[in-house]
Amino acid sequence: MDWGMKNRLSRLIKADGHCIFLPIDHGYFQGPTRKLEKPGETIAPLVSYADGLFVTRGVLRASVDPGNCPPIILRMSGGSSIIGKDLANEAITTSVQEAVRLNAAAVGMSVFVGSDYEHQSLVNLGNLVNDCENYGIPVMAVTAVGKELEKRDARYLSLCCRIAAEFGARIVKTYWCENFDKVVNGCPVPVVMAGGPKCETEVEVFEFVYDGMGNGAIGLNLGRNVWQHAYPVAMIKALRAIIHENASVKDAQDIFEEEKNI
Ligand code: 5RP
Repeated sequence: MDWGMKNRLSRLIKADGHCIFLPIDHGYFQGPTRKLEKPGETIAPLVSYADGLFVTRGVLRASVDPGNCPPIILRMSGGSSIIGKDLANEAITTSVQEAVRLNAAAVGMSVFVGSDYEHQSLVNLGNLVNDCENYGIPVMAVTAVGKELEKRDARYLSLCCRIAAEFGARIVKTYWCENFDKVVNGCPVPVVMAGGPKCETEVEVFEFVYDGMGNGAIGLNLGRNVWQHAYPVAMIKALRAIIHENASVKDAQDIFEEEKNI
């Protein structure tokens, strides 16, 4: 691996081999998502606890302080909206020059395996990897399901993750699911977990994150379950403890309760 690639990955993945990324890219297809109407205000108390920020160039320029932010994972794909015909119909919408100009530590894009746009999104991934490898920029592939949340099982997600890795993604972001070891064991590159729609309770989040880490994930790319929570700082601190301090679910709950009252 070239020095630049290694350096960028080590800015995102910490010395313990783990990471906690904060995604705030949801507006690129959902518009002003709840609690992300003013991204700058939402992330201000959270950025110091995140190892990376997954964001589009528009929100990065408008809402993220270049003097006080974690390494950037720049979202590169888009082209569909929640009210359009098919969320899977994405193209690469941001150039690699832009990623370099914005000093991105990595870039990210979605693949939609099994959708009508499977071929298009996988070819997009291959092409983006070709371009980014020239500059030593890691690509994080997002195994997206659009509106079909029920697709999230080990059989499907292991297929998606493996294909994304075969196309050259350096990190794969996927959903946690039952039998998560099957997903991780079939994927030759590091796997990070997304959260999906907000869970009912924080304990549910701690449980799946703990299970995923125990089954080989290297960390998180978790958005709504942090910044849509009534106590986002307490959430990210508790999750950080699972990721970087080997905390149990009970430890995380204790940290959450303590931080919530500060
Ligand atoms: C949206 C994304 C998000 O980064 C991803 O879904 C993680 O966020 P959340 O934990 O809210 O699901 O790729 O397109």
